[in-house]
Amino acid sequence: MLTKETFIQLRDFIYERTGIYFTENKMYLMENRLVNRLNELGLSSFEDYYFYLKYGNEKTKTELLNLYDAVTTNETSFFRNPQQFDAFRTIVIKDYLENGQNTTFGLRIWSAACSTGEEPYTIAIVLLELMEYLKKNIPFSIYATDISPRVLESAKTGIYSEYSMRGVSDNIKKKYFTLTKEKNYKIKEDVKKFVRFDFMNLMDQEAYRLYRNMDTIFCRNVLIYFDEKAKRKVLENLYECLKPGGFLILGYAETLHQQRYGFRPLLFPGTIIYQKG
Ligand SMILES: C[S@@+](CC[C@H](N)C(=O)[O-])C[C@H]1O[C@@H](n2cnc3c(N)ncnc32)[C@H](O)[C@@H]1O
Repeated sequence: MLTKETFIQLRDFIYERTGIYFTENKMYLMENRLVNRLNELGLSSFEDYYFYLKYGNEKTKTELLNLYDAVTTNETSFFRNPQQFDAFRTIVIKDYLENGQNTTFGLRIWSAACSTGEEPYTIAIVLLELMEYLKKNIPFSIYATDISPRVLESAKTGIYSEYSMRGVSDNIKKKYFTLTKEKNYKIKEDVKKFVRFDFMNLMDQEAYRLYRNMDTIFCRNVLIYFDEKAKRKVLENLYECLKPGGFLILGYAETLHQQRYGFRPLLFPGTIIYQKG
């Protein structure tokens, strides 16, 4: 059983490393999520698991990755909150066509906390569709990162169930996916080649160095698990990673309240996008 004291130790340990904050009413959720780790390691108590994490040897590093897999919530789907992709299509591309055509490297887009890949692949599909519609070539690269190795592996495989595809039209399914023997959908190489997946912990200050000069950052449905302090740290870093005038797209329920971190809110039907001032 997880005691309150160990819960607090584990909570603080997880928070320091990931930004994810388990409030006291989430004690049972934490217990549920970590019990498999104890079983797998042959440990008999949560106290032992805490000490294993905190004072372990080299093996602890691997266990940290398992811990990240266990404590993250990875719910996602293609075209999740479609108004945000409508807004992305409208303003980002308008801005790029008006101002950015001379950019040597094309559009740089980052899906920070990409989970199993539905978000970055949706971005690629939106851009491919747009290029076809405009009859223009817009060079672009998509960087997709997450803290959970398990979801990154699944994203690289790129095979999805009917449930993940619930927001996808038949036309898009036909164009960008192949049907597997098991009746799942596999993303085509023509889309996959635009997305680069990597491990990146949003709480790791150093890691942001690799993600500079972004035109747009999607950071959706992850900051809801963070407390204010961690959220602020991430937003300040994301701000630095954007080009001047670049756009930040947060989750549907995540607005920047009192503190806007230098971002200018832009209103669109059903959504708000933030622009670096
Ligand atoms: C609910 S999913 C959101 C996926 C996608 N952005 C969306 O909106 O559909 C949240 C993701 O954030 C990731 N995550 C949590 N803490 C993180 C951190 N500190 N650094 C990077 N990713 C993190 C989780 O592993 C998970 O895949």
